[in-house]
Amino acid sequence: MHTILAIESSCDETSASVVSDGKIRSNIIATQDIHKQYGGVVPELASRAHEKNIVPVVQQALEKANITKQQLDAVAFTQGPGLLGALLIGNCFAKGMAMALNIPLIGVNHMEAHINAHFIAENKPEFPFLCLTVSGGHTQIVLVTDFGKFEILGETIDDAVGEAFDKTAKLLNLPYPGGPLIDKMAKNGNSKAFIFSIPEVPDFNFSFSGIKTSILYFIQKNTVQNPDFISENLADICASVQFTLVEILMRKLKKAAKQFHIKTIAIAGGVAANSELRKRIIEESEKNDWKYFIPDFEYCTDNAAMIAISAYYKYNNKDFVWLDAVPNARMAIGT
Ligand code: KG4
Ligand code: ZN
Repeated sequence: MHTILAIESSCDETSASVVSDGKIRSNIIATQDIHKQYGGVVPELASRAHEKNIVPVVQQALEKANITKQQLDAVAFTQGPGLLGALLIGNCFAKGMAMALNIPLIGVNHMEAHINAHFIAENKPEFPFLCLTVSGGHTQIVLVTDFGKFEILGETIDDAVGEAFDKTAKLLNLPYPGGPLIDKMAKNGNSKAFIFSIPEVPDFNFSFSGIKTSILYFIQKNTVQNPDFISENLADICASVQFTLVEILMRKLKKAAKQFHIKTIAIAGGVAANSELRKRIIEESEKNDWKYFIPDFEYCTDNAAMIAISAYYKYNNKDFVWLDAVPNARMAIGT
């Protein structure tokens, strides 16, 4: 049996997880609330919070898994992409542990890990499959042909879909991160109440900056006429925006599935927690005879279990990094 400790610190969640032979034994996540008052993640504050959280989070992950440090066979960390200062904390901590315990070090790509979260559950997708990877920083359609083999078929040319959710929420005076709140408000709204146009973007790429601007103008125009427009229509605005954002994602995903003749479809990343997206994936799977894979909520938003499961496969391939491994804020998928 081999046991790995994994650390995730790419953005505003400090997380640690223990995996033994592909089974997740613990997944501790400390969310940094400090950013709420600023309406977005403040990189320097994220680094400081990681520094404060990392020791207790790692300790709790080991305790929950009933593992001592001496029983570890490797230490894994998120190498990128993410905030450089935040990544550095996990990177330095993991290096320190690997050196002290004289065990190998494993660097994991955060976006690959979101996709690999599908290998945590018993029911795993078969290759090849398409994964719509949707988070606060990325929007990609990825063709996954094997463990660690990823090809990006399309991605956003500007903002990520999570960013579109969060920025819309900010316009509606909702706190950060707004994605989950829009989802919650939308439940009581009419998704056809307001119509926003779908951008025309070639191939399998996405664009979310135009829609963000049209939502801004829409709110400005209506608030001039009625200062209470937002509060009187909040549920309908949320439902309509959410419908449009999910429609943009689904159109491209359907197009890619058709063109590549792929019927195994997965979603991953923070926005995969969105209830409209989850519902549409199930509906389209029935219509198109897809086999669909949706991760548990715990494994959609940032977590170290997805880093741990990725590290498990890397360990089996002896895919280690040296102690001079540095974080890469813009680390590309499949590198
Ligand atoms: O994967 P993640 O936790 O962090 C990044 O790697 O970026 O994704 C965070 C993003 C945020 O933009 C957040 O608003 C969005 O995921 N998100 C949601 C929902 N839950 C999280 N967006 C829409 N609906 C949700 N239920
Ligand atoms: Zn993420």
